[in-house]
Amino acid sequence: MNHHDTHLSHFFQQFLLSKSLAKRASGPYNIVPQELLFIGGMKKYYIKTYGCQMNELDTEVMAGILERRGMQRVSEIDDADLLLFNTCSIRDLAERKVMGKLGQLGRTSQKETIIGITGCMANAKKASLFQKLPHIDFVLGPNNIHHLDDILDEILASKQQIARTDDTFSQELDYLHAKRTDTVKAFVSIIRGCNKFCTYCIVPYTRGREVSRPHKDIIEEVRYLVDHGIKEITLLGQNVNSYGKDQPNNHCLFHDLLYQLNNIPYIERIRYMTSHPVDITQELMEAHRDLKTLCEFIHFPIQAGSNRILKKMNRHYTAEEYLEKVHRIRDLVPNIALGTDIIVGFPSETEEEFQETYNIMEKIQYSTAFLFAYSPRKSTPAMRWKHQSIDDPVKQDRLQRLINLQNNTSTSQLKKFLGQEVEVLVERPNAKDRSMMKGRTRCWRKVVFPGDASLRGSLQRVKIHSYGYQTLVGERL
Ligand code: 5AD
Ligand code: SF4
Repeated sequence: MNHHDTHLSHFFQQFLLSKSLAKRASGPYNIVPQELLFIGGMKKYYIKTYGCQMNELDTEVMAGILERRGMQRVSEIDDADLLLFNTCSIRDLAERKVMGKLGQLGRTSQKETIIGITGCMANAKKASLFQKLPHIDFVLGPNNIHHLDDILDEILASKQQIARTDDTFSQELDYLHAKRTDTVKAFVSIIRGCNKFCTYCIVPYTRGREVSRPHKDIIEEVRYLVDHGIKEITLLGQNVNSYGKDQPNNHCLFHDLLYQLNNIPYIERIRYMTSHPVDITQELMEAHRDLKTLCEFIHFPIQAGSNRILKKMNRHYTAEEYLEKVHRIRDLVPNIALGTDIIVGFPSETEEEFQETYNIMEKIQYSTAFLFAYSPRKSTPAMRWKHQSIDDPVKQDRLQRLINLQNNTSTSQLKKFLGQEVEVLVERPNAKDRSMMKGRTRCWRKVVFPGDASLRGSLQRVKIHSYGYQTLVGERL
């Protein structure tokens, strides 16, 4: 932090003023009166989000907290009094991107801005970030988002750098005041953290143990969103299928929650992210068959096709058990689309073992695949297997072979849609061509068709006549 004292005290007064006014003025729905926008001091914030959907939602929650202080979001760093970097640690590249950006800010920033690091990197690196980046003011982990308001007050009062990085999430967040920009779809958090400890993954160390959110609060939030025009809800968690297991007295497991949400009037579509194959139960598969709102898509990460590697990854299933679940779900819901995550080049992976991944991927024919080269992460068991690491060019070659395979699979799947009618939830104008609208099918296929913004949020029947890269193209019927 590089504020001068005079600046600080002025800052602080204005800050408290804007905060108390905002608290008095804001009703339950995040409405901040115009006069608050003109109060001096810290009034403009910039947030950059890296990483997963959970981070996107956390950004919306933090934006809600800041707007309640009377602050306004800006899209340029130079216009902001407060900069937040909501970071990701899942792979080294994600961390390097943020570190590069922050290092550059330290060299060039002349303005007296407050800078905070939030998200997974905050917990992965904690207060050590202050040594590398002395111009940072605070480090706030994903389990401490609800402290954002207080931490800003403390920094302004004490001028001290502050790190708050609890291991486990303990408090229900104020999701109802999240500042949402999408008017058609919304993310709703149902469980935070992960207990699985896959040996490559940093998430259990950054987000901590699983904590389910009370189902009454989830239902209240979904009702609220649907009442305000939201058509599609994506339930979020590192492992949504574990929902409710940490709170057995509530008697509400993941599939129970889905049945309850399905009954909410006017809810159009429900999705969820991410699920662990071990916890995909018969009940959940039947929910996909029986619930009108539950979309025909499961993100069902296999990670690898070799049983030795799966064991070493601590995934708790074999390729055969995984395949058996794929067959069972396809028997129950024939038109279901499956998505996956795959890691290549895990320590000690041989060419033959990679081939097993390739073969199972070819066999299953995923509609979506997120493909990654293994990246060693601090604190994880796999980090200790350095002597077994796979050379970068080999990893990149394996990755490219899977990318080529998936591109071929996608093309042959898209071809099958030619001449078919699909149901599209219209989301927004297509960025490349504004005369086209963009949306998704229930199976999570991207569709574009000629149309205007008045169609946003509606369900349309579209007849497919061609396709581009991972996108179907059609005409509205
Ligand atoms: N290296 C590469 N990919 C990883 N993932 C998680 N940890 C790592 C890592 N250390 C991938 C997994 C996970 C997805 C979110 O990111 O495939 O499902
Ligand atoms: Fe990471 Fe495995 Fe948990 Fe997913 S299930 S967040 S890959 S530890």
